[in-house]
Amino acid sequence: NKSQAWSALFSEPMSDLVKRYTASVFFDKRLWAADIAGSLAHAEMLQAQGILSAEDHAAIERGMAQIKSEIEAGSFEWKLDLEDVHLNIEARLTELVGVAGKRLHTGRSRNDQVATDVRLWLRGEIDELSLLLNALQTALVEVAEKNAEVILPGFTHLQVAQPVSFGHHLLAYVEMFARDSERLADVRRRVNRLPLGAAALAGTSYPLDRERVARTLGMVDDKGVACVCQNSLDAVSDRDFAIEFTAAASLVMVHVSRLSEELILWMSQAFSFIDLADRFCTGSSIMPQKKNPDVPELARGKTGRVVGHLMGLITLMKGQPLAYNKDNQEDKEPLFDTVDTLKDTLRIFAEMAGGITVKPEAMERAALKGYATATDLADYLVKKGLAFRDAHEIVAHAVKTAIQAGVDLSQLPLSELQKFDARIGEDVFEGLSLRGSLEARNILGGTAPAQVRAQVARHRARLAQA
Ligand code: ARG
Repeated sequence: NKSQAWSALFSEPMSDLVKRYTASVFFDKRLWAADIAGSLAHAEMLQAQGILSAEDHAAIERGMAQIKSEIEAGSFEWKLDLEDVHLNIEARLTELVGVAGKRLHTGRSRNDQVATDVRLWLRGEIDELSLLLNALQTALVEVAEKNAEVILPGFTHLQVAQPVSFGHHLLAYVEMFARDSERLADVRRRVNRLPLGAAALAGTSYPLDRERVARTLGMVDDKGVACVCQNSLDAVSDRDFAIEFTAAASLVMVHVSRLSEELILWMSQAFSFIDLADRFCTGSSIMPQKKNPDVPELARGKTGRVVGHLMGLITLMKGQPLAYNKDNQEDKEPLFDTVDTLKDTLRIFAEMAGGITVKPEAMERAALKGYATATDLADYLVKKGLAFRDAHEIVAHAVKTAIQAGVDLSQLPLSELQKFDARIGEDVFEGLSLRGSLEARNILGGTAPAQVRAQVARHRARLAQA
């Protein structure tokens, strides 16, 4: 049974079922580029340390270049018998360059190799995700700017609360995605550390230069100092970085899901606040009138999937004794699927943002129905000298009267309003209009259009720097 790296000790071949059960090549082959990069950095260091000859090193470089082109061309033959991406590539290398290929694994174990590969791969994906998050923020900022003056009923408890700028509402999501970017950047610092040199679990007796390998692989901090995992046992068994990445990814999806829920509600006939471009919707096979917001619905659904991966990974670690255990092979599919789901979702949302048609009249009509300026009347009374709690009570009576009359507060005649408090004057009506209410909230972080435009400018400057 020569196809296995550890075969001499074994008296019978692995059963086919066990082979299939334990193999990971059909999903971990996606790590090939990271695997080759890690091997090349390791080989370069082995030569620099006098552990590998210049000829062997050259042969390894030559072989790896060929393997890279074979994989890119789709002609590389992935073999289940060779279990995983690491053994597949190493076996092919030896096929191509002979004994030099067999020397590559000096001072290395698949345990530190796989941990290095996953970190390198994830680092690249985090960088792509950061760009996608920026693109989504940029798209939302654009729609926000266009709609700084559009009035939306702001809700609490899904009951009309106070008028807000639609642009302001969208910028709330930009804040969430900005925090997501920060979180990913923070996770990246802990992803970008080198396990190689830990070998199987205890380190190695070869004089490896771990810091050199880290620098070759770009595993350095912002001062250019090499980032090397400092405990060999931890280096091979730590998957915190994968868990915290998936946690950050889950939050991204939760934010996408909240936005999705709003888009779905707003597009429903009962709200009719927006329309989504046809290319993001589907019809019904039975009801000819239907146009369904499938994309946001699916995104809301896929949030469960990513949160599920977080639960999967965190449960995977629980109860694992030090150091490496095969359990860890199960880290890959959840991680891969999390990245794939996030990338597709962010791409489609950045595109969809531009496809939102806003219906300002419907939004305004809804805001007018809910006595959204009641707080403004209370604030007006406070300015006239009342304590806020007393003003609150007076306005509650006014709202009750308006409800009974079936009109908005702003439609009650002045004489009627003055029955609630004699201090109310003609100037009250400006604040009772939706626009007056909006303009009045001209405070840092508030919904006044001037503030919204200031935030748009701040986000633009921030995103241009990223
Ligand atoms: N395919 C394995 C993984 O994904 C590679 C490491 C295997 N190491 C071992 N000692 N079996 O974790």
